[in-house]
Amino acid sequence: MEGSVRVAAFLVLAAAVLGGIVYYTLTHQRPLIPADADHVGSRDPAQCLGCHGPGRKRPRGPNHPLNDQCFNCHERA
Ligand code: HEC
Ligand code: HEC
Repeated sequence: MEGSVRVAAFLVLAAAVLGGIVYYTLTHQRPLIPADADHVGSRDPAQCLGCHGPGRKRPRGPNHPLNDQCFNCHERA
């Protein structure tokens, strides 16, 4: 009897962890690069960080991946 309680507890935990991963993945999609005046022409990550670096006009959030190869993840709108 005790064994099946443990199995049930494990399954509930596993479902919660998987659900959390799916939820995070669906709610933290990488946004497109807007097609506005700020974004025409700029291709150099250093230029992007001039506005999106820490303390700049529009810094990336604290949960942003620690990776500065912007175009590996963000496509143009
Ligand atoms: C001159 C300042 C400036 C530069 C340079 C700039 N951005 Fe932005 N970026 C902004 C501002 C302001 C916004 C928010 C307003 C908007 O959506 O246009 C924004 C929005 C974004 C968004 C969408 C964020 C969201 O929440 O939807 C992405 C992605 C982005 N920028 C990526 C880049 C990349 C990659 C580069 C380099 C190629 C770059 N930006 C260069 C100012 C800049
Ligand atoms: C490894 C993939 C990856 C790389 C490389 C990357 N980003 Fe992102 N970016 C994301 C994801 C994922 C999100 C959504 C984060 C969230 O919703 O929590 C995001 C969100 C953003 C946002 C919206 C604000 C925020 O923090 O949620 C901006 C602006 C942005 N990125 C700019 C950039 C710029 C500029 C670079 C290059 C210097 C860059 N990103 C490189 C994956 C990436």
